[in-house]
Formats: sequence, C-alpha cells, structure tokens
Amino acid sequence: MNRPAGGTRVRVPCLLWNDSAVGIAREVFGDALPVAEQYAEFLSGPGVERGLIGPREVDRLWERHLINCAVVAEAIPAAASVVDIGSGAGLPGLVLAIVRPDLDITLLEPLLRRTTFLDEAVGMLKLGNVTVLRGRAEEHAGKLTVDVATARAVAPLERLAGWALPLLRPGGELLALKGERAAAELAEAGPVLDRFGVRSTELLQVGRGKVDPPTTLVRVVAGARAPRRAPGSRKRSS
Ligand SMILES: C[S@@+](CC[C@H](N)C(=O)[O-])C[C@H]1O[C@@H](n2cnc3c(N)ncnc32)[C@H](O)[C@@H]1O
Repeated sequence: MNRPAGGTRVRVPCLLWNDSAVGIAREVFGDALPVAEQYAEFLSGPGVERGLIGPREVDRLWERHLINCAVVAEAIPAAASVVDIGSGAGLPGLVLAIVRPDLDITLLEPLLRRTTFLDEAVGMLKLGNVTVLRGRAEEHAGKLTVDVATARAVAPLERLAGWALPLLRPGGELLALKGERAAAELAEAGPVLDRFGVRSTELLQVGRGKVDPPTTLVRVVAGARAPRRAPGSRKRSS
C-alpha cells in the first residue's frame, strides 16, 4: 500500500515504481485509478502467465505501459470513436477506455488468445465503452469507420498507415505511438501518405512531466480519399 502525501489511502500495488508515481497515477487516472489498478493486476498476473506481457515488464508496468498509454488521451477529441489497431493486451486502447469513458473504443486484434484476454479484461473491469473485434486492420477497410486510430508497436508507419487510413473518416486521425525513430518513419512513409492524399502530418509529444521521456506520437490526418489497400502493403503474421 502507498499513501500519497496529503491524500486518502490509495491501494496501488507494488507495480508502481516509486511514491511520486502514485501522485502521477492519481493525476492521470483520477477517479478511474482503482480500475487502472485492477487492470495492472490482471496484466501482471494472467497477462504474464499467458504470455501477453513479458515478466520483466511488471516492474515498469505503470511508467512504460499504463501512464505512457493513458497520456495519449491528451491528443484525442471528446466523444471520439477510436480503433486501437493491434491492441495486444490492451495497450493503448484499454487504458484509454479506462481514462476516457467518453470515448467509444474498438480493440482490434487478430489473435484469439489475445482477444480472449481482452474480453475477460473488459468484463472484469465492467467497461461499457469497449468492443473487442477479432481481425486484421486491413480486413476491416470499408466495414469500420472511426474518428481516431491508435497503434503502438504494431508495424512501421509506412505499413501501419496503409492499414489505418482506410478506417478513418475524412479528417480523422491516426495517432501512432513511436519512439526515437518517429521522424525517420514519417519520412519513410512519405510516398504512401502522398498516395493516400493525407491532409497533414505532425510529430507531437504528450505526457510531459508525467512520463520520462514524454510519449511521442505521429499524427496523420486523413484526407477525403483513402484507397482500400496501401500500395505495397502485405499480410503479416505475428
Ligand atoms: C508487438 S504487439 C503490440 C501490442 C500492443 N499494441 C502493445 O503495445 O503492447 C503487436 C500486435 O499487433 C497485432 N497485429 C499484427 N498485425 C496486425 C494487423 N494487420 N491488424 C491488426 N493487428 C495486428 C499482433 O497480433 C499483436 O498483438
């Protein structure tokens, strides 16, 4: 148990990396912190046992995964429909659903083992704003249209854009969580983004003062036309 300075007793399991992080977690998750704690416990128990998350991630679950993903909410407009492509164990989509009940979130994930885990997590956390959808992003072009697509650690931007842009309404946004190679990936994706007629691209950082380093996002705003499949896109098994 940790007790934040001047606050009420908050049950934050050993997964938080230090006391100051309790304050950050409270700031980021607010009233939803107990739900985030439940999710953290589910990730660090069944998530590790079933191979959805590596055992070494448990010590850095909050900083590297929960808070790092939750701060993406800063870039998402109110009441948006969101698809999280390649959600895996629910990152970032499930975290966004916890921190932003106004969002309508679809967790899109091809692997049955992972969608089973996601279904269980959504039921346990009693999240009414989440749909778990099994499949590959490219299979849902023309069937699913949303305001925002998120993705973390799914594919290079060049390929990811070809999967995400057909799922976006004109003016909708791909928010790709990227690391140090964000600028390089954006440059490499230039020809594909041109072919899709995207309106604009931008690198932005969210979570300043909450995660170190802040989370880097590539924002791609969809244009009016989006081909069903990106030139050169290919099926990928994982
Ligand atoms: C490295 S994991 C990342 C999972 C999660 N986003 C995270 O950050 O922990 C990549 C995920 O993308 C999924 N994936 C791979 N190709 C995909 C596709 N074409 N459409 C949707 N998901 C895909 C995989 O099944 C896997 O769960």
